[in-house]
Amino acid sequence: MTVLQPRSPEAPEDRRDLLDVDGLGRDGIVEVLRVAESFAEVARRPIPKVPALRGRTVATLFYEESTRTRLSFETSARRLSADVMSFGLGASSVSKGESLRDTVLTLQAMGVDLIVVRHPSAGAPQRVASWVDIPIVNAGDGWHAHPTQALADCRALCSALDRPARADALDGLRVAIVGDIRHSRVARSVSRALSFLGAVVTLVAPSSLLPPRPDTWPVAAVSHDLDATIACTDVVYVLRLQAERGAGAFVPSLREYTARFGITAERAAGLLPSAYLMHPGPMVRGVEIAAEAADLARCLVTDQVAAGIAVRMAVLFLLLGSAQNG
Ligand code: CP
Repeated sequence: MTVLQPRSPEAPEDRRDLLDVDGLGRDGIVEVLRVAESFAEVARRPIPKVPALRGRTVATLFYEESTRTRLSFETSARRLSADVMSFGLGASSVSKGESLRDTVLTLQAMGVDLIVVRHPSAGAPQRVASWVDIPIVNAGDGWHAHPTQALADCRALCSALDRPARADALDGLRVAIVGDIRHSRVARSVSRALSFLGAVVTLVAPSSLLPPRPDTWPVAAVSHDLDATIACTDVVYVLRLQAERGAGAFVPSLREYTARFGITAERAAGLLPSAYLMHPGPMVRGVEIAAEAADLARCLVTDQVAAGIAVRMAVLFLLLGSAQNG
């Protein structure tokens, strides 16, 4: 029995989506992380594949560029033996004027069992979920949410800290989320997920790159002083300046931004010896993070990517596998 988001109180038990971290809640996060722990073992097998979703079809519908999330979902689906239908915007009939609604209804009519959606507009996956009967997974919508990135980050942290997937897995862990928080769906999702598991989160950014109401976020503090914050922080989670959302206009210059809010080589050298660096990718080396910092052994960027496979296998399995087996 999964606690992933039911579509509505009236919806059948097997109609579920993953749209945001709030919908998952603490129990849902722990459930995904527990299932991901068991799927992580599959990656170490000579043939990293299980038959759990044989006969099922997963479609990836990306209206925005992606390297990690798209490849991760497609790899996860294949490792579960599902078929994958990959929707490329440039090669689709969207360029002829086809709407999002008609596109997803077309995919459903082809017998797709689940759609993974990335869209530049906040709320697009929720709209898609209201049009079709199959499960929808949000792979990032505008500034709003990126739930599987947050789940991957929680799994990577639990793994690095050798903590089992439990409701108190990150109790007391001091995490600083640094950079362009205003435009970041990752920051919105990861701050919630970390807080659900007990982490104490501080947002660090210039005023111009903070969200309009940081007091409504589940965080302990907001700071403009990166050096003071990271001197007593266990995890520094670095965000990219979201140039595609106009973040460049919110800082006087990249050079000044890097000097005040970048994880430079000097700052990386001053981190607590036990501290971890994280970044959801893509990294822009030399802006928000120096190469010397990104390449540190305690930088978990590639661990986050690896964790993303196990977590997305868990999400696909919980949304499709339990219904199939039940
Ligand atoms: N972290 C992340 O969402 O990366 P992509 O945009 O490459 O999917």
